[in-house]
Amino acid sequence: MDKVEKIGASLIQHGKLNDRIYLMRLSEREVLDLPSKLINLAKEKKYTKIFAKVPSPAVQHFQKYDFFKEAYVPNFFHGKTGLYFLAKYIDPNRAEIPLNDRLEIHKIIQLTKTKRDAPDNIEQENVAVRQLDDSDITILTQLFKSVFKTYPFPIFDGDYIKETMTKNTRYFGAFDGEKLVAAASADIDFAEKNVEMTDFAVTPAFRTNNLALLLLQYMEDEMRKLDLNMLYTIARALSPAMNITFAKAGYYFAGTLKNNTNIGGKIESMNVWYKFIKDQS
Ligand SMILES: CC(C)(COP(=O)(O)OP(=O)(O)OC[C@H]1O[C@@H](n2cnc3c(N)ncnc32)[C@H](O)[C@@H]1OP(=O)(O)O)[C@@H](O)C(=O)NCCC(=O)NCCS
Repeated sequence: MDKVEKIGASLIQHGKLNDRIYLMRLSEREVLDLPSKLINLAKEKKYTKIFAKVPSPAVQHFQKYDFFKEAYVPNFFHGKTGLYFLAKYIDPNRAEIPLNDRLEIHKIIQLTKTKRDAPDNIEQENVAVRQLDDSDITILTQLFKSVFKTYPFPIFDGDYIKETMTKNTRYFGAFDGEKLVAAASADIDFAEKNVEMTDFAVTPAFRTNNLALLLLQYMEDEMRKLDLNMLYTIARALSPAMNITFAKAGYYFAGTLKNNTNIGGKIESMNVWYKFIKDQS
């Protein structure tokens, strides 16, 4: 698994699985030094991409080092400051998406526009959603293992789930009787008042019933109780179902992160989506 480390007060994840450095949190203290430090680390470890979440005021420092925008989410931090998803490719091949995939990603985004106002079509009346707790960890990791060949974070590991559950991640599941058939998580940043809706997995026999949308709606209701400003996600760009689910839930498309994340057995491009749950005026 790629490891999560601090550089000063900033947080990075890096390793060969995703073959990248991911700047997860930038602290103001490191703004000036960090771009060159990240580039040096990437070159030393022979990573092919640096992917950085950078608040608007710090973007110019990264642009000097040839970081480019891949997605932008307005009012991300505390409902005020925008967030840039920046990329720098150490190996130019990493920036190339094969033509067929590029066309498919474009087609899926077009499709989400036509599906935005489609009816919910949630057809599993017997399925019930609830928040998961300690006692659900084993069935949750089993579900994740059965759905994902690989994953960018250690969600197959019960200890990781337990640790994140006690911190700022809420896990949710959809049950058919006793059987966990779908799950997802909400990774909350209480300080910045936003939350990443992530880890969506529906067991194959229960797909095509919009269970991901059912979970997402339930999770949104829960998040609205927590005085947060916005919801966002980083979804597989080549998954029509996942992108359509976020469009149907009223999220807006923010951009595509090229060859970004090791998920489902290989490195894939990802789409960023966001939705405000509080009036921005
Ligand atoms: C992504 C996932 C969670 C969605 O599961 P789901 O809730 O069963 O999604 P559905 O199959 O009901 O699809 C949702 C919508 O997309 C549409 N859709 C799905 N595949 C489609 C396709 N190939 N072309 C057009 N529309 C498609 C469905 O028709 C549905 O919309 P509708 O009911 O309005 O017609 C599930 O497919 C899964 O677990 N995939 C593997 C794990 C994964 O990739 N997770 C996402 C990580 S980012």
